[in-house]
Formats: sequence, C-alpha cells, structure tokens
Amino acid sequence: MIYKVPVIPGDGIGPEIIAEGRKVLETAADKHGFDIEWIEYPLGADHYLRTGELVSEETLKELGRYRAIYLGAIGDPRVKPGVLEKGILLAMRFYFDQYINLRPVKLLEGVWTPLKDKGPKDIDFVVVRENTEDFYIGQGGRARSGRSHADLEVKRSLYNVKFGLDIDSDSDEIAYQIGMVSREGCTRVIKYAFDLAMERRKHVSSVDKANVLSDIYGFWREIFEDVGKSYPEVTTDFNFVDAITMWFVKNPEWFDVVVAPNMFGDIITDLGAMIQGGLGLAPGANLNPEGTSMFEPIHGSAPKYKGMNKINPIATIWAGAMLLEHLGEKEAAQDVVRAIELSLREGRVRTYDLGGSSTTSEVGDEIARLVRNL
Ligand code: IPM
Ligand code: MN
Repeated sequence: MIYKVPVIPGDGIGPEIIAEGRKVLETAADKHGFDIEWIEYPLGADHYLRTGELVSEETLKELGRYRAIYLGAIGDPRVKPGVLEKGILLAMRFYFDQYINLRPVKLLEGVWTPLKDKGPKDIDFVVVRENTEDFYIGQGGRARSGRSHADLEVKRSLYNVKFGLDIDSDSDEIAYQIGMVSREGCTRVIKYAFDLAMERRKHVSSVDKANVLSDIYGFWREIFEDVGKSYPEVTTDFNFVDAITMWFVKNPEWFDVVVAPNMFGDIITDLGAMIQGGLGLAPGANLNPEGTSMFEPIHGSAPKYKGMNKINPIATIWAGAMLLEHLGEKEAAQDVVRAIELSLREGRVRTYDLGGSSTTSEVGDEIARLVRNL
C-alpha cells in the first residue's frame, strides 16, 4: 500500500520540523508494511515573494485529490501579517471545507505543566474548534465619509445602532468585522463533538459568549441544545469564553470534549497548549471527513529560530500520528504516539522548551528509534 501525501513545509522553522515528522512517519510506515510518497509543495513566503502567488486555484484543485496534507507552518516577517496566514493557511481550511479543527490537550507523563497540583490524569481533553465560520469569514472593512456610497451607508447604520446618531463628518472613520455562523455549520461540528464524546468520557462543554454577542452565539447555543437532544447519554455544560479560560487553569479535569466557535477555539487552544506543556507539544488536525484534511502543529513558523535546529518537533510528529490515524493506519499512529510518550517519560532527549539542550533532529531520531523498537 502506498499513500500519496502532499507536504507543505512552509516558512520559518516549518521545513525543520516537517523533516522530523517525515522521518518518524516513514519509520512507522516501514514497520507496518506500507509506504508514504510525499508530494512536496513549496508554498509560503519564498514562493510568494518570488512569484506574487499565494496558492493558485490549480494547486488547490491538485491538493484536493488527496485525503491528507501534512503542513509545517506559514508566516514570515518579510510579508505583512495576515497575508500568508489568510492567503494560504485559511484559504486551504476554507477551500477544503475543513470544518473541524481537532486539538487534543493532553499532558503526557514526564512533561511539566504550569498548573500547580495537576498531572496527566487531570489534563486530558479535546477541543473541537469550528474552522470555517464566525469572525474568520473575512467580511468586514473600513468606512469613512467621502468614500463610496456603500461605505457611507454601512458607517451610518452602524453609528445609528451604536449612538443613535447620524454622523457624516469627514474625520469619522470606523472599522467593522462581521461574524457569521450557520445552522448547518454549527450542527455538523457540534455533532462531531458529541460523537467524539461517545467514544470518550461522554461529556461535552460548549463555549460561547451568548450573554453579550447574543445573536451569533445565542444561535450557537440553541443549536448545541438541539444536537444534544440526540445524545441522552452525554452530559453537557455551557461556558462563557472568559470563564472557560479560568476553568482550564483551575479545573482542567472537568473537561472531556470542548466545542467552540472558530475565534474562541483559536484563543482557548493556545491556553490549552500551555497547560499541556507548551506549544512545542500541541498538534492539530483540520478535518473534512469526506474530503481533504490537513495536519499541522498549532504553533506558528517561529522565524527567529529558523535554521537553528532548536525547535521541538513533537507537535508536528504528533500531528503526523493524527494523519496516519486519519488514513486508517491506527497501529502505526499508536506507535508514533507511544514513542512520543516514551521519549518524554525517559526525558533523555529534550529540546530547550522542555528544559533540555537536544536539537530538533536528535528528538526526531530518538522518536523514530523508539517507533522501531516498540
Ligand atoms: C491557528 C493560528 C491561525 C488561526 C492563524 C495563523 C491564521 O493562530 O492555527 O491557531 O488563527 O487559526
Ligand atoms: Mn491560533
């Protein structure tokens, strides 16, 4: 069996961590009797600066022929913030309709957590982040008098809502961003969360801000309740996003599956990463169960560490295990996760973020060695 897997090393430290991910996945493949053929796509800052192209329709179509993409990181200080992130990373999440962003928050043995008196049995939940809607839809703008008529209308109506005023002086300028969620979009991701909970400890926590942003998140909450009715065995709770950041720190053991709209999911998973030992250990999967999914560490391209062979590759290797699992290679995936666990428990080979001085490639070598010997 040969799996063809597009790989996008990307920017900054992306190529270094992806190299280790490939190494470990190839080892697991070899051991379990299958092959991976990597198809490399050099998307990212260099490609953009050279050609002016982010990702072409043609490339997207090509990528869409595969079930899983392996991604390093996107983002580069030579390019204005947001251009590459929106033009490549978010473009792919949206194009492939990867509506589930699965982010496990699991403290492995041997890893230090900043949470006092909490251990691996307390920190083991999964965040299911909605990945295609909310404030990420890219609708918004700035409006100022004297620009187009439409701008002026938007501005007037928003000012009217806010202040009951009709303002059209030239000095006034506003910016606005529209968040949108759909019944279908919420239903499918919340349903995924409940299904996942059925395989775990049967508890789902919803995240919203229905007390203030009540149109958008009141709707989310309503749909959550609707979906929940079909899962009588699953217990639920509702959390305002501000409060859940507090509970993640104080009582992480309460959580099993946490389902969140896109932006809140983004925010709380950086916190989740910290309580599981740092961004160097946090993997993510952008899933479309019927289409093309994409696997990546949740951290960024860390440009200041580029080329130093210093960054922790474990988040990327772990994302690789999720990729194998997605392809149906469960035993190989399990071996990779077990090898990660073993390497952290033994603690001989660790990068600087975990208090060690090993290099990126030494960690990759060690995990590959453990996969082979398991
Ligand atoms: C993430 C990142 C992205 C996001 C950025 C880089 C667009 O923060 O994957 O969490 O906001 O989703
Ligand atoms: Mn993020």
